Amino acid sequence: NEVAKESLRSPICCIMGHVDTGKTKLLDCIRGTNVQEGEAGGITQQIGATYFPAENIRERTKELRPDAKLKVPGLFVIDTPGHESFSNLRSRGSNLCDIAILVVDIMHGLEPQTIESLNLLRKRNTEFIVALNKVDRLYGWKTCKNAPIEKALALQSKDVVIEFNMRLTQVITQFKEQGLNTEIYYKNKEMGDTFSIVPTSAISGEGIPDMLLYLVMWSQKTMVEKLTFVDKVQCTVLEVKVIPGHGTTIDVVLVNGVLHEGDQIVACGSQGPIITTVRSLLTPHPMKELRVKGTYQHHREVKAAQCIKITAQGLEHAVAGTSLHVIGPDVDVDEAKKTAMED
Ligand code: GTP
Ligand code: MG
Ligand code: NA
Repeated sequence: NEVAKESLRSPICCIMGHVDTGKTKLLDCIRGTNVQEGEAGGITQQIGATYFPAENIRERTKELRPDAKLKVPGLFVIDTPGHESFSNLRSRGSNLCDIAILVVDIMHGLEPQTIESLNLLRKRNTEFIVALNKVDRLYGWKTCKNAPIEKALALQSKDVVIEFNMRLTQVITQFKEQGLNTEIYYKNKEMGDTFSIVPTSAISGEGIPDMLLYLVMWSQKTMVEKLTFVDKVQCTVLEVKVIPGHGTTIDVVLVNGVLHEGDQIVACGSQGPIITTVRSLLTPHPMKELRVKGTYQHHREVKAAQCIKITAQGLEHAVAGTSLHVIGPDVDVDEAKKTAMED
């Protein structure tokens, strides 16, 4: 039952967890970038977004599973802040994702925002995996750059393996106390009931192939219906930003459908509905973070799933976190205005 690649959109994955567990660093490790070091105080304060094309994921996972069949065009990842004061941004991210990564620091175990994030994901029945990050901090860890995790573990001394197993067991027990069954992913035979743990290092890359492959294979296997592309536009405003030379722009996640230059759109505004025309559609380059200033790619049209910076007139009072609607030939403008303000 092969599904045509063109008919599936990229899964949207949200990365969540307690402050400083390594969410941004994990994405840096996949992108080959240094976004985290440029953040004020090393703290993420905005939602981020990056598109990872399937060919990059294939390259990164070929040692682990050279014959893996990737049926989705790519993976779209939303970075969220872990600091306690940004629960609105965590909620915004978790509301629009298909799947999530819950990051836990192996040296710290579960922390307050781990549990907060876990509860947000459970509220919407979102499937997620646990990235048990910073394995390189285990005492005596031998670096195996970008290696699949089983290969990396096989190369460690007995003492490292003992410490790893002890910390893993502690984390599994802590999740159990939250009413959640978890297991290291390659031993997890009850996917769906038991959540998978993938050990990782964002510094030396161990376990990153496992994390990427698991996310893609899991979503294309169990979420075909959800990921089947539909024409109806589903789009959420992530941030409203003033960009020199572009005026007020909105960063959106296009979850489904196609947006075109010249489309008439309705956004929710703090002073009433905003009706405007898309002037330009800009996307960051693949493997680049949307929130980092850089060059953008211009498009006549963009197909979901993607993150897009939209420039248009009159966006000054647009409200982040609300939906954007397109006025098509058979849409009543007043009706669209009303729907836009319902968020
Ligand atoms: P917030 O977005 O602010 O919640 O933090 P974060 O979860 O994105 O963590 P971030 O990527 O900012 O990393 C926090 C610190 O941990 C940084 O100093 C990283 O260099 C370090 N770090 C992240 N991942 C790893 C890892 O796998 N191993 C080691 N040794 N350090 C890591
Ligand atoms: Mg971060
Ligand atoms: Na941080």
